[in-house]
Amino acid sequence: MSKVKTAGLISMGSALPERVLTNADLEEIVDTSDEWIRSMTGISERRVAEDDENTSDYAVRAARVALDRAGLTPGDIDLIIVATVTGDMIFPATASIVQHELGVYGTPAFDLGAGCSGWVYGLAMANAVIAGGMYERVLVIGVDLLSRVTNWTDRSTCILFGDGAGAGIVAPVEDGVGLLAFDLGSDGGGAESLKIPAGGTRSPCTHEHIDNYCNKIHMEGREVFKFAVKIQAEATTKVLAAAGMTTEHVDMVIPHQANTRIIDSAVKRLGLAPEKLYQNLHKYGNTSAASIPIALDECVQEGRIEKGDTVVTVGFGAGLTWGAGVMKWAY
Ligand code: ACO
Repeated sequence: MSKVKTAGLISMGSALPERVLTNADLEEIVDTSDEWIRSMTGISERRVAEDDENTSDYAVRAARVALDRAGLTPGDIDLIIVATVTGDMIFPATASIVQHELGVYGTPAFDLGAGCSGWVYGLAMANAVIAGGMYERVLVIGVDLLSRVTNWTDRSTCILFGDGAGAGIVAPVEDGVGLLAFDLGSDGGGAESLKIPAGGTRSPCTHEHIDNYCNKIHMEGREVFKFAVKIQAEATTKVLAAAGMTTEHVDMVIPHQANTRIIDSAVKRLGLAPEKLYQNLHKYGNTSAASIPIALDECVQEGRIEKGDTVVTVGFGAGLTWGAGVMKWAY
């Protein structure tokens, strides 16, 4: 019997807009203050794409960085997964546009919609298809331009989000490193607490919807906050148990970068040292499906993760969904 292949991340990359929107800039747009935003969320500034830039542009940029660092070309990739809730168009899949922009033909490509948990879901799918022997190298991109679906008159949401993309390449790795376990989940009972109400088949967009910002993000912040605090610690504990580990084995946790208070609650609940939870949300805000791969990429670039380290990624988002993964870092 042939041995099941162990898959692991062999390279990361990310891409962020140059345009910076600071809390002081937001003070000019809505009734808020830098002090409120920083103390309630931990965010100081975020990046916003230019009007003529697309979601696919950032996905391609992040993918090219990851490919270059791995010494691979787009032709070496067997499958492209793009986790996003803000694709270029409702259809076709942004993944197909990315595939074409990367200059390859025929590579299977699809979008994955699991909100901010999407990239971790994608990692789990890549792991499964490699272990199953279907493909060798999978490009998993997390990308969102939430600025395009933000209601810039709603101070409770417009301060939270930013744009960006992160990409990872998953491939077979040597024994002893790689992806170990996942805990993915969904509670559709929370579907109404984070949504864009109009523009889908339930409520095709009308002029009235646009006038009432129904084609923009609506969020029950408190509900999402409570869910996030609970699920982040639960999913981390569960995924570690599935890998036969406890928090004592963890070198670094890369949480979804939504709110520093949510991340701090994980520090307390899990009994982890604060330096073991990576945070960069002060610079980028919540970049949705891109937040975990951007943070993971920066953490690796800063030399804070080394080969053999135990790394946990954990996210939550619209759905409501959650996704946690544990791995031994492979490079
Ligand atoms: N500036 C100043 N005051 C504000 C602002 C603002 N930007 N936003 C809200 N307030 C006010 C409210 O009007 C309210 O005032 P009131 O008491 O006079 O009515 C007060 O602050 C408290 O508002 P709440 O909304 O109840 O504040 P809360 O403590 O819930 O904090 C926050 C709001 C930061 C949005 C929080 O709920 C949160 O972070 N939730 C989770 C959000 C999240 O992570 N979403 C994304 C997850 S999934 C994804 O990533 C897409």
